[in-house]
Amino acid sequence: MKTKSFISTSKLNDAYYPQKIQSKLIKLYSFENHLEFSLPITEQLDSFDIFEKQIFNTDLEHLIFFSKMQLGLLGKRDLDILRSKMNSGVKLHFALETDCISTLSELEKCMLELKLFRMNTMKESQEKLETLRKNVPFRGRKTDFITKNHLSSKRDYQSRAHEEKPRYAALAKKFDEEYWDGARETGYGGYKDDGRWERVAKKMIDFYNLSSGSAILDIGCGKGYLLKEFKQAIPSLNVWGIDISRYALEKAAIEIKDNLTLGNAISLPFENDAFDLVLSNMTLHNLELPDLKESIREMNRVSRQHKWIGVESYITEEQKWNLMRWQLTCECFFTPREWESIFVDCGYEGDYELIFFD
Ligand SMILES: C[S@@+](CC[C@H](N)C(=O)[O-])C[C@H]1O[C@@H](n2cnc3c(N)ncnc32)[C@H](O)[C@@H]1O
Repeated sequence: MKTKSFISTSKLNDAYYPQKIQSKLIKLYSFENHLEFSLPITEQLDSFDIFEKQIFNTDLEHLIFFSKMQLGLLGKRDLDILRSKMNSGVKLHFALETDCISTLSELEKCMLELKLFRMNTMKESQEKLETLRKNVPFRGRKTDFITKNHLSSKRDYQSRAHEEKPRYAALAKKFDEEYWDGARETGYGGYKDDGRWERVAKKMIDFYNLSSGSAILDIGCGKGYLLKEFKQAIPSLNVWGIDISRYALEKAAIEIKDNLTLGNAISLPFENDAFDLVLSNMTLHNLELPDLKESIREMNRVSRQHKWIGVESYITEEQKWNLMRWQLTCECFFTPREWESIFVDCGYEGDYELIFFD
C-alpha cells in the first residue's frame, strides 16, 4: 500500500469533526486525485509517537490527512519522522483544504500559518471574552453595614496634608505599632475596641442568615474586633482571621486570638469553599492592583457562599481630594464604576460597601 490516511479524534480548532465525514472527505479527495484509498487510521494524533508505529518503517508515497489542523497536534518526534519521510519523497495531502505539499519548506510554511491562525483565534476569543465581560453587569449587592461607623469619626483632612506625610505613610505601611497605637499622623492614633463593631456583626449575621456552626473568615482582620463581636453574638460560630500585621494579631482580643493567622490576602492558607462568609473590611484598597485582583480571586476560592468587601472610594473631586489627603496606606483610588469593573473582571459576585470622605 502506497498511501496512509489519518483522521482526528481530537478537537480541531475547537470543533469536533465527525469521523464519518472526515473519512468521506478523504475518500473523495483520494478519488479525485487518483490516489489509492486506505481505511483512515483513527488513533489520536496527539498521543505520542503514532508515526513511529504507522509510517516509520513503511514504504509510503502519500500521507493523507483530513486537515492541516492535524499537524498542530503532532509531537516533536512525529514531526521529525514526517520531515524525514518527506525528505525521501513522501507527499502530504489535506482533504479539507484540498492541498498537497511535497517540500520541507512548504511544511514549515504550513506550520507557521497554523501557529498564526491559532494565535489569531486566541486573540479573537480573548477579545470576545473582553466584550462579554464589559457587558456583564455587576451582580453583587450594595450594603449598609459600616457607613454609620465611618461617618461617626471626625477627620481633620488638612492635618494629614503635612509635608512629612511621605515619611508617615511609609511608617504606616509597615502596619506596626506606629500605625495602630502611635500618633494620629501615622495611623489610628490608638485603635481601641469601643464597641462599634457589635452593630456591624449583628447586621451581617441577619443579612447573611448566619447561624450556629457557620464559618466566617475576615481578611485583614486587624485586632479582630469584628470577629470578637461575631463570636459574642453567636458563640458557636467558627470565626477565622488573617492579617499581615504581627503587631495587630499580638494585640488581638483574647477570645479569638487563637483563630487568627499571620498571612497575606493574596495567598490564603485555607481550603477551597471553606467558609460561609468571607469578608474584608478596609483592607483591599491597600494592595496594588495585581495583588488586589489576586486577593479577590482568593476570596472567591475559599468562599462557599457569601462574600463582602468594604473599601474606600470617591465620586466627587472634593471626595477625591479628601481621600488623598487623609489616606496613608491606600494604593487603589477608584470610583464606584471602577470598583465594579474590577469585581466583574475577577468574577466576584459578592456584596460590597464603599465609603466616601465628605
Ligand atoms: C484599615 S485596617 C482595617 C482593619 C480591620 N479590618 C478593621 O476594620 O478594623 C487595614 C488592615 O489591612 C491589613 N493588611 C494590609 N495589607 C494586607 C495584606 N496584603 N494581607 C492581609 N492583611 C493586610 C493591615 O494589617 C490592617 O490590619
